[in-house]
Amino acid sequence: MTADSPMRLGAEREPVLDRAAAMVARAWRSFDDARESEPEIGSALAELLSEPMPTSGRDPMAALDELEAVLDHSIAQARPRYLAFVGSSGLEIGAVADLLAHSYDVNLAVDARAASRLEDQTAEWLAEFLGYPAAGGWFTSGGTISNLSGLAAARERALPGARRTGMAGVTGALYCSAEAHYSVSRAAELLGLGSDAVRDIPVDHYTRQMRTPLLRAAIEADQASGVVPVAVVATAGTTLTGAVDPLDEVADICEELGVWMHIDGAYGLPAAATSRRPIFVGMERADSLCVDAHKWMFVPKACSALLVRDPSALAAVFSHDEAYMPHDEVVPNAVDLTLEYSRPMRALKLWLAFRVHGADEFRAALERNLAQARLCHDLASAATDFEVMPLRPTLSVVPVRHLVPGCPDIDLHNAALTDALQRDGRVYVSPATIDEQEWLRPCFTNVRTRTQDVHVFLDVARELGRAICPGHE
Ligand SMILES: Cc1ncc(COP(=O)(O)O)c(C=O)c1O
Repeated sequence: MTADSPMRLGAEREPVLDRAAAMVARAWRSFDDARESEPEIGSALAELLSEPMPTSGRDPMAALDELEAVLDHSIAQARPRYLAFVGSSGLEIGAVADLLAHSYDVNLAVDARAASRLEDQTAEWLAEFLGYPAAGGWFTSGGTISNLSGLAAARERALPGARRTGMAGVTGALYCSAEAHYSVSRAAELLGLGSDAVRDIPVDHYTRQMRTPLLRAAIEADQASGVVPVAVVATAGTTLTGAVDPLDEVADICEELGVWMHIDGAYGLPAAATSRRPIFVGMERADSLCVDAHKWMFVPKACSALLVRDPSALAAVFSHDEAYMPHDEVVPNAVDLTLEYSRPMRALKLWLAFRVHGADEFRAALERNLAQARLCHDLASAATDFEVMPLRPTLSVVPVRHLVPGCPDIDLHNAALTDALQRDGRVYVSPATIDEQEWLRPCFTNVRTRTQDVHVFLDVARELGRAICPGHE
């Protein structure tokens, strides 16, 4: 560091970069195979993580060494047996892209020349990959923000001027599956509709899809009583079970009753590019959709996209005329079409991943996860000590329950088993409550997961399940 150019690495720049590259290479090697347990946070690390704010700096190499310990003691979704929630993969080329994107630190709020074209191109590639006729797409920090942005456009379409006047005594409503992600309620809260305005449409007991006759009835009842339907949110891959709502039927209802159709495909929509395409028919009719590339397109967080058929609907709700913002361009600035102001180059990691791996490799990786999910379901359903859902998985979530003859409470047992699995560390899964029953909920979305990991998951669940509750036959 020099006095006239503070906070730069100076002569240490390249050695620091080399050290970081070596750390990344070690991390990638460690992700190649699952590890047998998660390390405990020892006293030295605990002490480091409670140190006060440094007033003066220290050797960056030493700081990187400390950081490696912090990272290694963190739950990394990139590990092959991380099967919890909707995991991701920290795709290697995506991590490289992030380093480059953050080094250039381009701001996509206003036109950034090539970087802006790259964002447009990535949205076009993504739309083509999914089979959606988008007229525009923008990258956001996650499905929560993409859903909120799409629904903001829907609210302005249903209630023109609401962005200025608020709801002004009008009651609006959103409609979604009872098993939709809570980001829909969150959007209702933030958009002034209120979460009571979310109509949770019951799902079919077996398919877990939204029951469309009930959707139609709910919209018609609201219309008859003066409530304004703002949007239907169809889920393409519910977080709980991976169900895909009947998109074509939802599109028919939306078209007939004049309601905006948004698809929350944050998790499941990439499967529209695979042999599962038929279950996504109708998606091309949606007004807007959300897909998270940081979920099942494997790139590191955060990289979500909102794709729309009519970008003017976004301009109607997001454009702002501010003295410090150029507005005389023919093409609107991203800031006039998106919720956020400063926006990093989130699209870059997906762009580079498409460039390096190509769409076919993405499809093959998705098919592998789909096959792993089916294998998990088939193995568990053939075993007498596991219970599965009645239908084979639509996508890659596979709810499974461990059964022990004579176990007094199978729900308590499976809740305890999730905790035991997370403590054990060989496999990381999260729980799910389905129809008030407790399940384990592995989800296969990682490029590093191998077929053998499916067997390991069931073997470890069985071993720990028997240890918790030996049964009394
Ligand atoms: C279906 C669905 N929608 C939205 C979200 C929210 O996405 P994010 O965490 O990127 O905000 C999730 C997260 O798991 C999801 O599964």
